Amino acid sequence: MEIQCSEKELFLFRKIAHAAAELNVPAYLVGGFVRDRLLGRASKDADIVCVGDGIALAQAVADRCRPVPPVAVFKNFGTASIRLDGFDIEFVGARKESYRYHSRNPDVQPGTMEEDQLRRDFTINAMAVSLNAGDYGRLVDPFDGVGDLERRLIRTPMAPDQTFSDDPLRMMRAIRFASQLGFSIDTKTWEGLCLQAERIRIISQERITEEFNKILLSEKPSVGLDLLYRSGLLSIIFPQLVDLAGAQYVDGMGHKDNFYHTLQVVDNIAPHTGDLWLRWAALLHDIGKPATKRFEQGHGWTFHGHEVVGGRMVPKIFGKMKLPLNERMKYVKKLVELHLRPISLTKEEITDSAIRRLLFDAGDDIDDLMTLCDADITSKNRQKVKRFKENFELVRQRLHAVEEKDRIRNWQPPVTGEMIMQVFGLRPGRIVGDIKNAIREAILDGEIENNFDAAYDLMIRKAADMNLHPVQ
Ligand code: CTP
Repeated sequence: MEIQCSEKELFLFRKIAHAAAELNVPAYLVGGFVRDRLLGRASKDADIVCVGDGIALAQAVADRCRPVPPVAVFKNFGTASIRLDGFDIEFVGARKESYRYHSRNPDVQPGTMEEDQLRRDFTINAMAVSLNAGDYGRLVDPFDGVGDLERRLIRTPMAPDQTFSDDPLRMMRAIRFASQLGFSIDTKTWEGLCLQAERIRIISQERITEEFNKILLSEKPSVGLDLLYRSGLLSIIFPQLVDLAGAQYVDGMGHKDNFYHTLQVVDNIAPHTGDLWLRWAALLHDIGKPATKRFEQGHGWTFHGHEVVGGRMVPKIFGKMKLPLNERMKYVKKLVELHLRPISLTKEEITDSAIRRLLFDAGDDIDDLMTLCDADITSKNRQKVKRFKENFELVRQRLHAVEEKDRIRNWQPPVTGEMIMQVFGLRPGRIVGDIKNAIREAILDGEIENNFDAAYDLMIRKAADMNLHPVQ
């Protein structure tokens, strides 16, 4: 395996090497950059470890650059970073014991390079490349990280108990790397992780969510989500998802395991979108099922209203996960609430009115909603999937045709509330709302066309029914 670097990066590493030689501190390129470049993946940042004062080295490197970049110093962490051409370089002194990355605990003891590598999370992240005169460019790989890259294995350099108790977030990281890289977790590492799962409780929600989101954004998120479930971590960090697991049977009739169905839906949507929030919508689309599950004699299992209950759960889950409670949350809530609508249109004679109502309710998110619903088709029965997909395609075409004709998506009332008030000399109030609603309903039901003249006409008629007449 060979490290691939751009000319620019090589030039920069030379500069770091010269600065380190001048300060007389051995320096190494370490961690994710080395791992990613051995794998041929891109990286936007690099970590430099020196056996000495990392902050002083950062300053010395900055002084060698023109123009001199600002050095961001994090005294508490003992680190400093500089940004060059959109590339972040972080400097830190080698440390031993309790290697807690980004720990606020200032109690870090300086150590040797070997000690520093030993305290890192995984063998594939503990490789270093020398930037020193005697062996510039040599890969320092004390735990066979290269072998683990080839074996596609996540393994801790030390006893897993030690590594995970040093920083329990590493349990999430192990699973995140497994999901991102498609690697397996070494058996001993996995056993240690399962034993320590409870310790995740001491980690801040923000850091947990950051890793969780990376899992959700990986190529095949089910890998990470299933590992979270099987390790016991998921029941601590996201119990509502675990509630989806399992199939119950009554009178020999069972329902599908909604946890694994959800994982399948998230995997299905992954190739179609790298948007975190659409993936969140896929993850949460059935979250209301456990709360609405009923067994109806002679009929089987039902989950009536799960989309409404699920929608209501979204703000709570976002709050707990410390995700933004803004438009993003509303978007996810909306998709969860609407996720059955396109599918329901495949089951009945589709009227233009039903299509218009869906366009009206989904607005600009109609395409994302359709992507979600498409991913939601997961039956094991190939014939059934084929039939569904074909019907679904018809819904797509109808949506397109009705939108072309009626322009309902992002619908704006052709007659506004202000106009109604002006024409009839009204103040804001219920009557104005009633007239507006009557116009909207008539357009959605196809009783009148979606244009100003038709809407104005209806307004006059509706007002006359209420004994209202234009003021002039
Ligand atoms: N590290 C660690 N324990 C942690 C976090 C990080 O030992 N909890 C070490 C690892 O050696 C890691 C390096 O610090 O490679 C840099 O960490 P970070 O930038 O967070 O992660 P990367 O490995 O670079 O990967 P990514 O950028 O994908 O997060």
